[in-house]
Amino acid sequence: MLPGIVLWICFVLAVEARSPHADLIEELVRDNAFSNRISDNILEDALLDLPDLVRKYKYPFEEHFVTTPDGYILGLHRIPHGRDSNNKPGRKPVAFLMHGLLVSSAEYITMGPGSALAYTLAEEGFDVWLGNARGNYFSRQHTTLNPDDRSDLTYWEFSWDEIGNIDLPTMIDYVLDFTGKPALHYIGMSQGTTTFFVMASLRPEYNKKIISMQALAPVAYMAHNNNSLFSVLTPHLRELEILSSVLGIGGLFPRREIYTRLGIRFCSDGAATQPICSNLIFYLTGRNEDQHNATMLPVLAGHAPAGISVRQLIHFGQSIVDKEFRRYDHGLLRNIQVYGRTTPPSYDLSRISAPVYLHYAPNDPLAELEDVYRLYKELGNPRRFLVPHPKFSHADFLFARDVNTLVYGPMIRFMKLYH
Ligand SMILES: *[C@@H]1O[C@H](CO)[C@@H](O)[C@H](O)[C@H]1NC(C)=O
Ligand SMILES: *[C@@H]1O[C@H](CO)[C@@H](O)[C@H](O)[C@H]1NC(C)=O
Repeated sequence: MLPGIVLWICFVLAVEARSPHADLIEELVRDNAFSNRISDNILEDALLDLPDLVRKYKYPFEEHFVTTPDGYILGLHRIPHGRDSNNKPGRKPVAFLMHGLLVSSAEYITMGPGSALAYTLAEEGFDVWLGNARGNYFSRQHTTLNPDDRSDLTYWEFSWDEIGNIDLPTMIDYVLDFTGKPALHYIGMSQGTTTFFVMASLRPEYNKKIISMQALAPVAYMAHNNNSLFSVLTPHLRELEILSSVLGIGGLFPRREIYTRLGIRFCSDGAATQPICSNLIFYLTGRNEDQHNATMLPVLAGHAPAGISVRQLIHFGQSIVDKEFRRYDHGLLRNIQVYGRTTPPSYDLSRISAPVYLHYAPNDPLAELEDVYRLYKELGNPRRFLVPHPKFSHADFLFARDVNTLVYGPMIRFMKLYH
C-alpha cells in the first residue's frame, strides 16, 4: 500500500512539474498514424476541446460565465435543444446537471450521442445546462485571486461546502434568470449530489426552485466506506492538510495534456496495458465487468481529471472518519470563529423539501447501501430506486453500456411526470 501511495505522489508531482506541450496534438496524431491502434474518431474526441466536441456531433453549444459573490468566475455550458428530435429552440423544461469529484461538465458529454446524458436529455426535449464547480478547468478564473500562485493559496480555500453553498445558488439563479423559468430539474452525480444536499439544507429557500432532484449515486454519509486507500489516509487528514499547504499545493489533478497522452498510449483498444488502465481509473469507484466498455477510455482521459481543491478530498475524508454529514472541520479555534462552536454543525437534511429521487446501486463502494438508507430516512421528501442490476457500481451511472435503459430512461419518465 505505502509504495503505491509514494508512487502516486511522485506521479502527481511529475505531472505538476511538466509544462504544457505545444506540439502534443501533432505528435499524438503522428504516433497513432504509425501504430494505428485507435480509430480516428476516438482520437479526435479525445483531443477536441469540449465546445468543438459537442459541435462535431451537430449539437448546439453555448458557454456562459457567471461570477459568485466571492469572485469565482464559473463556466456554464448549455445544449439548448436536440439534434434528431426536439431540434428547435423553444420553451423547454430546464435540466441542470452537476458533475462529480475530479471531473467537469464533460462527464455528461464525452460518451457521445446515444449514451451521454446531456445528449439524451436534449433529445427528450430538455434545455440542458451543465454546471462547473470552482477550481475545475472551466471555472479557474477569479476576479482577484490566482489559482497558480503557490505562495498564496487563498484561491483554494474551499471544499464542496462552498461549491454547494455559493456556486450552485449562483449558477441556478443565472439559469433561471436567463431562461425566465421559476424552477428547474437538478441532476447530480456523486459529489454533484453532495453539493445539492449542502445547498438545499443550508439555503432551504432554494428548494422551491427545484422541480425535482435526481441523485445518481448519492453521496452524503460515508460511514460505511471501506476503501483501503482511504483507511490508510484518513487518520492523517490534519497532517496531509498541513503538508499540502507547506508544499504550496492547494489544488490537485488539474487538467493536463499528459493525461490525454497517457490515455491514448496505454488505455486504447489494442494496447496491452488497457486492463491495468481500466483498473487504475476505476480503482476508487469500483468496476462492473458486465457493463464496462474500455473502448472510450482515451476519450475519458482526454477530458478528465479536471482539477479539485485539496480541501474537497479532506472534507470527504472527514465524512468517513466522523461518520456524519457535516460542514468542513477547520480545527477547534477556526471552527469557533466560523461556526461559533468547536465542532462543525451537521447539514440538516430534513430541511430539504424538494422531491429527491435517489438512484442508487447495489455494488457502489462510494455510496454503500447503509449510508444511502440513512440519507433516505433523514431527507424531507425522498423516493428511492435501486438500479436493477446486481453488480451496478459507481461509475456505471455514466459509463455503463446499458445506462440508458437501466437508469436514464426511468429517471426521465419521473421528470416528465411534472410536465
Ligand atoms: C472491508 O474490506 C476488507 C478488505 O479490503 C474486507 O475484508 C472486509 O470484509 C470489508 N468490510 C466490510 C464491512 O465490507
Ligand atoms: C464499446 O464502445 C464502442 C465505442 O462507443 C462501441 O463502438 C462498441 O460497440 C462498444 N462495444 C460493446 C461491446 O458494447
